[in-house]
Amino acid sequence: MKIGLIGIGKIANYQMQAISHTKGISLVDAHDLDPVKAEELPGSVTFFENFDQMMKRSTADAFLVSTPTPTHFEVAMKIIEADRVAIVEKPLCTSPEQEDALRTAATTRKLPLYTAFHPSYGREVEWWVEQRAQKNFALGKLLGFESCFADPYYLNGDLTLGAVGKAGAWIDGGASSLSVLARLIDPDEMELVDGRMTCIPSLKCSEVQGLGIYRFVVDGQPGFGIVDTNWTLGKNHKMTRLWYENGSIELDHAKEFARLNHRGGDELVFNLATDKPRLVNHYCGVFANLTEMYGKGEDNQEMSRKLHRLLFAANSKK
Ligand SMILES: NC(=O)c1ccc[n+]([C@@H]2O[C@H](COP(=O)([O-])OP(=O)(O)OC[C@H]3O[C@@H](n4cnc5c(N)ncnc54)[C@H](O)[C@@H]3O)[C@@H](O)[C@H]2O)c1
Repeated sequence: MKIGLIGIGKIANYQMQAISHTKGISLVDAHDLDPVKAEELPGSVTFFENFDQMMKRSTADAFLVSTPTPTHFEVAMKIIEADRVAIVEKPLCTSPEQEDALRTAATTRKLPLYTAFHPSYGREVEWWVEQRAQKNFALGKLLGFESCFADPYYLNGDLTLGAVGKAGAWIDGGASSLSVLARLIDPDEMELVDGRMTCIPSLKCSEVQGLGIYRFVVDGQPGFGIVDTNWTLGKNHKMTRLWYENGSIELDHAKEFARLNHRGGDELVFNLATDKPRLVNHYCGVFANLTEMYGKGEDNQEMSRKLHRLLFAANSKK
């Protein structure tokens, strides 16, 4: 599968490393509004200064949109309108109206449309999904969760440089958290109870804090959970805690480890980090899954639609 990259910013570097580690996928072309970014590409990749020229001439099978979140809609729509395939960094876009327009445009042209939910491929997430599938640790049924995605993007009354490229605490962190939870809870079995967002009009972001409360059912067992996203805590804290009948597990998404508490037993800590940066590990998962789906003529629209429904339901409450 040949990829054309659009947007050569912070995340692109990790994506390029992951592509080089994944079989069956290669980066052939790239484009950025800033031509200086061409210097960051390997010699084998062709840089296009002009987007339309890239759409006409590129031999790529699909184009990965890694531009700032508020531009995802516009860039992805231009790809689809050029009758080419788009893979969009999560979130796909920032509103249900944009989402409908993108999905309609792709469906009308019979084009697949992918969303890259990289946090759901975290090593700690993959590990726990596997433990549950193998029925290891006998923790019993899931009763509740708390998933926090916090970034230090608001300091002394203003946004920090880290916020560049992001849309808002909820739109960014909520999409990450929900994509992790979807590995363990069928999103069709999740429903929003309430959403609370802190929006500061003078800041160039949709919200600096966002919280979603959900109810869910897994294996016939109802439960409740909180997704908590925050740019004002001043720290990078990304963690999902899951409470089961017989204990709990903490998945640390920033440090790639898991801490398991089995009632009556000792605490167990599992270090799941590798020699690769965490984001490279995530994108290795994204690209392995992408090449598999592409080979079968499939995409992840169904899952993406469910996750965006849960995401937008919470911030429509603000
Ligand atoms: N930085 C992270 O840690 C991180 C992690 C995961 C996902 N993401 C996601 O990746 C996306 C990009 O984030 P980033 O941090 O790399 O942003 P960034 O600001 O570092 O880079 C974005 C790049 O896109 C270019 N660009 C902007 N508008 C464009 C357009 N219309 N056409 C072509 N190029 C354009 C910019 O010149 C810049 O080089 C965002 O959706 C973000 O949420 C970022």
